[in-house]
Amino acid sequence: MKTALGDIEIVSHLGADERTLAFDVLDGLTKPFKEIPPKHFYDTEGSRLFEAITKLPEYYPTRTERAILAANADALVESTGMAELVELGSGVPTKTLVLLDAMRDAGTLDRYVPFDVSEVVLTESAKMLVERYAGLRVYGIVGDFERHLSALPPAEGPRVIVFLGGTIGNFPPGARRRFLRTLHDALGEDGYLLLGTDLVKDPAVLEAAYDDAQGVTAEFNRNVLHVLNRELGADFDPAAFEHVAFYDRDHEWIEMRLRARSRQVVRIAGLDLTVRFAAREEMRTEISAKFTPRRLEADLRAGGLRTVERWTDPDGLFAVTLAARHGG
Ligand code: AVJ
Repeated sequence: MKTALGDIEIVSHLGADERTLAFDVLDGLTKPFKEIPPKHFYDTEGSRLFEAITKLPEYYPTRTERAILAANADALVESTGMAELVELGSGVPTKTLVLLDAMRDAGTLDRYVPFDVSEVVLTESAKMLVERYAGLRVYGIVGDFERHLSALPPAEGPRVIVFLGGTIGNFPPGARRRFLRTLHDALGEDGYLLLGTDLVKDPAVLEAAYDDAQGVTAEFNRNVLHVLNRELGADFDPAAFEHVAFYDRDHEWIEMRLRARSRQVVRIAGLDLTVRFAAREEMRTEISAKFTPRRLEADLRAGGLRTVERWTDPDGLFAVTLAARHGG
């Protein structure tokens, strides 16, 4: 699509028969310990609730990461010469503006390549960005970055792939390293990865961030049941499940679960499946890993990557790491 405003191209890799929710739910709800992967939180309502979470006093990651980026964007652009910014799970680009501004000011800005499951979000942000940045080219990819990373076009200049927000923490440890390895392959010889990670800290601070006083995170968690009701014809009673969030000190991750308040028999028409929950039975809906510098190094190394620079905030809550291929 070439608009009067500038150069926008949006390509979709999500087929009409995209059945990943159905397959994930069939897998997850027939396991001895039930689980639903966190990527299914984000329908329109889930995305709205997540936006609300990012503004809560207890939820420090978003604002902290934004401050780290603001403080170091010029140095980042200087050391990478980045002309092309690839963003995974871009959503509405707010933090990204800090980086694009720095690229514009340094005179390197050429192309923005956002990756998101929502075509609407991609199109709206593309229009906003070509208006804000004269001459910017946007190549948006509608897809699931876990499966469609090969849809990335070849780099046309110094490229940085950014994966912010701490979303890497949603992957369990093995999948996390496998995904870093995939990113390594997507970087090409001289690309960089900019990775946001939440850090290990006082469990009370972590648990408050995932169990806020206003109950927004609880609503966000239960929203996945509304998604299943709508998309798979399930008959979950969301009010019959309570929000559980705790810090697992051994694994160093926050775990979110939904706990059945009483015995539940749920019919999922779209899967021709009946699922039973015992009273107080819990279902895992998210892990959100917290990192130490040591673990981060080990994971990056396992993915074939090395740290070029790491920035954090004065309180050491969150880290943004610039990484490159080992030996490259
Ligand atoms: C978007 C995955 C980074 O793990 O902190 C926020 C999602 N879950 N509150 C996170 C989330 C509960 C968030 N990520």
